[in-house]
Amino acid sequence: MATATAAAHPNLALVKYWGQRDPALNIPANGSISVNLSGATTTTSVTFDADLAADTVYLNGAPADAETAHRVRVHLDRVCARAGVRDCAQVVSHNDFPADVGVASSASAFAALSLAAATAAGLSLSTQALSILARKGSGSACRSVPDGFVEWLPGCDDASSYARSLAPCDHWDLRVITVAFATTPKAVPSLEGHQAAPSSPFYQARLHEVMRTLAGVRDAILARDFDALSLTVEREALSLHAVAMTSRPAARPWVSGILYLAPETVQLLHAVQGWRRDGLPVAFTLDAGPSVHLICEGPLLRQVLDALDAAAPDRATTIVSRPGRGAWLVQENDGASAPSDTSCIS
Ligand code: PMV
Repeated sequence: MATATAAAHPNLALVKYWGQRDPALNIPANGSISVNLSGATTTTSVTFDADLAADTVYLNGAPADAETAHRVRVHLDRVCARAGVRDCAQVVSHNDFPADVGVASSASAFAALSLAAATAAGLSLSTQALSILARKGSGSACRSVPDGFVEWLPGCDDASSYARSLAPCDHWDLRVITVAFATTPKAVPSLEGHQAAPSSPFYQARLHEVMRTLAGVRDAILARDFDALSLTVEREALSLHAVAMTSRPAARPWVSGILYLAPETVQLLHAVQGWRRDGLPVAFTLDAGPSVHLICEGPLLRQVLDALDAAAPDRATTIVSRPGRGAWLVQENDGASAPSDTSCIS
């Protein structure tokens, strides 16, 4: 019997992955840049056991649904094939944050699963190799493997598509405030969004623009230049939504375009622009759902939370994060949900 426990944070893209070059390998059409979110953690244990007749997968204390269990088994098979392991595994995974609040648990889940499974199987993988492995489970999971501020180099094949750290988590005292309005699941999964993206007349324009955006966001992070970061990151998120709103998901012929935004989303975006006009440096970004992620520098956190209380008092969930570390192994005496690095945890 061989066992290992690993943990990882989800990540928030500042430059988004939207559209795939190779759907089978999750190779993206464009590069992306993200920051790990210290305020949310997935912890996963993998035990290979010769006595098990089949792989078993538990998520948050209950057997995983069939689709999730299948994705996990396919991922375990990748690790077993590489390590020459023939035993079945028990996988026990726990998220310390609610589902459907706008943080991608599939990213932290596949980053933690990759590290736990590889370690339990006796593999010692580099950060790059682990990022490649995690990417095959869920594209954006590759960005939860390295530390802090992360860039996913899109590459053109399996070996060249991986994420690497641009700067460690203590490089810049940024805060991300994730705001969810209701626990309704998003209407169109990101996988369908990726597949539909090329049907938008604006998709090629977005890919063209992303090259400049990547350079701008990379430079702004390295220079800790919030003004340069904020408008670029907002336009980038709006560009993803412009593509989503004008793309046609093949499986939904009744859909004229993908609308991820809720009325509360739009209301908060207007409020953020107003705060900035009034001198409060804060930026928003959006993923494929109605939640809003606010970004500010650490000393302004209180002010932004006060402004948020006034603008969105009825919001359902608020998660505050600092830049977080990459996936890590949990030692037995750490406790399953022990903070990864107190300097990075809010
Ligand atoms: O990794 P996926 O398939 O869940 O795609 C992530 C898509 C976005 O969250 C919208 C953008 C990103 O880069 O994380």
